[in-house]
Amino acid sequence: MKILATCKLPEELMAPIKEKYEVVMADNENEPMPRKRLLSEIEAADGLFTNVADVIDQEVFDRAKQLKVVSTMAVGYDNIDLEVARNRGILVGHTPGVLTEATADLTFALLMATGRRLIEGMDVIRDDQWKSWGPFFLTGQEIYGKTIGIIGMGKIGLGVAKRAKGFSMNILYHNRSRNEEAEMELDASYLELDALLEQSDYIVLLAPSTKETYHMMSTPQFKKMKHSAVFINTSRGLNVDEEALYQALQSNEIWAAGLDVFQTEPINSNHKLLQLRNVTALPHIGSAAIETRLEMARLAMANLVNGLEGKPLVHQVK
Ligand code: GLV
Repeated sequence: MKILATCKLPEELMAPIKEKYEVVMADNENEPMPRKRLLSEIEAADGLFTNVADVIDQEVFDRAKQLKVVSTMAVGYDNIDLEVARNRGILVGHTPGVLTEATADLTFALLMATGRRLIEGMDVIRDDQWKSWGPFFLTGQEIYGKTIGIIGMGKIGLGVAKRAKGFSMNILYHNRSRNEEAEMELDASYLELDALLEQSDYIVLLAPSTKETYHMMSTPQFKKMKHSAVFINTSRGLNVDEEALYQALQSNEIWAAGLDVFQTEPINSNHKLLQLRNVTALPHIGSAAIETRLEMARLAMANLVNGLEGKPLVHQVK
């Protein structure tokens, strides 16, 4: 059987796989397999190892003649057309759980970096603009004891809430369903979205990308936020109307934004949002800790192999 991996994976993971399967893998670690090659290699593939950089749509499924399982090295699977996969009996696996803490760490790090203007501080030194200690030089927003509003209280949201608790933050959240653990153990309060937007100092978006969450943060939502609000997005770029965010930041409707995800990735230095001083941008590195990425790769490979061997996936997307 043939496995197609659209990213280059470590030899220690691949060596036992190569003994059992024919493997076709991307040549470079940080570059996705070109779409043209993916479309041609998928024809004879039984299993596909993918990640958030690929779009696994109808065209890919149409080309595949014997595909049994698609395994993504990610918790989010909005880049995979699940309906087409389901209709063709193709299993889809993903990697929840193992990336929870690393992604919560990064989310909180981005919150702190944005609130206290860390990246700007480094830029000031690099640009030789550090002239003196000034009473209001690079002043940001306090974090300790402030109010955080978490939109999407799943595993990662809960992880962020735990970190916020350590900073004595008042925790608000909005979610499709109530999260008892957050309420009982962290004293988190459930609020309707508008109330959360109005009351929070830090607003952290962690909702999955679906039809319902498309552009869920747009002009009306930014207008409800405090002028001192810091908006953080480590979920998916499509959840945010980037033009509306740009306007809100430029007009000081909100104070700053920390973004790890964008509507179309990768972005480059010409991106409109990067022209703003009050944006802290990262290249989609929420789960990018070495141990975490190794665990994700192992789990995604276990899903793939299980699917090929007719066993239940460790984590199947239903
Ligand atoms: C990354 O964005 C993931 O979904 O794991």
